[in-house]
Amino acid sequence: DWIMGSYIDEAVARIREQVGDEEVILGLSGGVDSSVAAALIHRAIGDQLTCVFVDHGLLRLNEGDMVMDMFAGKLHAHVIRVDASELFLGQLAGVTDPEQKRKIIGGLFVDVFKAEAAKLKAGDKGHKGATFLAQGTIYPDVVESGGTKTKKATTIKSHHNVGGLPEQLGLKLLEPLRELFKDEVRELGVALGLPPEMVYRHPFPGPGLGVRILGEVKKEYADLLRRADAIFIEELRNTKDEASGKTWYELTSQAFTVFLPVKSVGVMGDGRTYDYVVALRAVQTSDFMTADWAELPYSLLKRTSGRIINEVRGINRVTYDVSSKPPATIEWE
Ligand code: XMP
Repeated sequence: DWIMGSYIDEAVARIREQVGDEEVILGLSGGVDSSVAAALIHRAIGDQLTCVFVDHGLLRLNEGDMVMDMFAGKLHAHVIRVDASELFLGQLAGVTDPEQKRKIIGGLFVDVFKAEAAKLKAGDKGHKGATFLAQGTIYPDVVESGGTKTKKATTIKSHHNVGGLPEQLGLKLLEPLRELFKDEVRELGVALGLPPEMVYRHPFPGPGLGVRILGEVKKEYADLLRRADAIFIEELRNTKDEASGKTWYELTSQAFTVFLPVKSVGVMGDGRTYDYVVALRAVQTSDFMTADWAELPYSLLKRTSGRIINEVRGINRVTYDVSSKPPATIEWE
């Protein structure tokens, strides 16, 4: 609309003035904030922006390709995709403790990003070298950094909007979303032409599937989980609640599948199977501090479990998590 249009014009002018003819690096995660920041900065300075997308191998089905299609394909932004999945899986081998896994993933993420940023800072033919680091910091992040951070919030922040990183890299900071609330960031994203499905996606933790595979993370588990989760999300998006006219994806705040590294017995044809179990998780919440498990329609659960068991060979049992927060948490790790 008109208000958002003039907001974009002002924001673009501010970015151009701040950056001048210098070059900017931005860490793209596929999440809402970094995506909107990238779209806005790209609108302002085009090829002076280089996005670095670190793929840790713990993203959802086709997520990496979708990020590339959107930013490199449709927006024609300059994006470097770093496929670091082998590095991450290698370092995670044998590690079962949730906080340890978070530490490893967060630490590696910073290392890989820093290495790319250092190259871009050095510059090469046609590029004189970046001087700015852009981050998708939004207003609630700024307030949170005021001293009342929880442990989890620190972890969240340490993942993408890394405190101290600009100083360590010797780069100036560019944070064009600093004054916006989440809703405003989403509206801005849509106004900049990002698809609503991307901008209104449920939150996804920085460590990704790393904390949705209980215990040790293995590629085999991640591959099974990705396929099961894609089916659950597709069914949530395709099933409307009659009364409200909204989809169950819209009616839930966060929904996902958890991989349980236990095997249970099943039957298929004349034989027995001995395969893995997944749990479906869907919650409704306004602040993610407390949350109720969502009363999804039985028909939706039935279709989802039928499809997962039929389509994902290796999973023969699906459960639904009926625990609210507290005392359970939303994630299982
Ligand atoms: P819990 O499981 O604590 O989750 O009820 C509350 C919200 O925080 C998200 N979450 C994370 N986000 N890095 C993130 O970026 C993390 O390590 C992390 N752990 C939990 C979770 O998805 C939920 O939205």
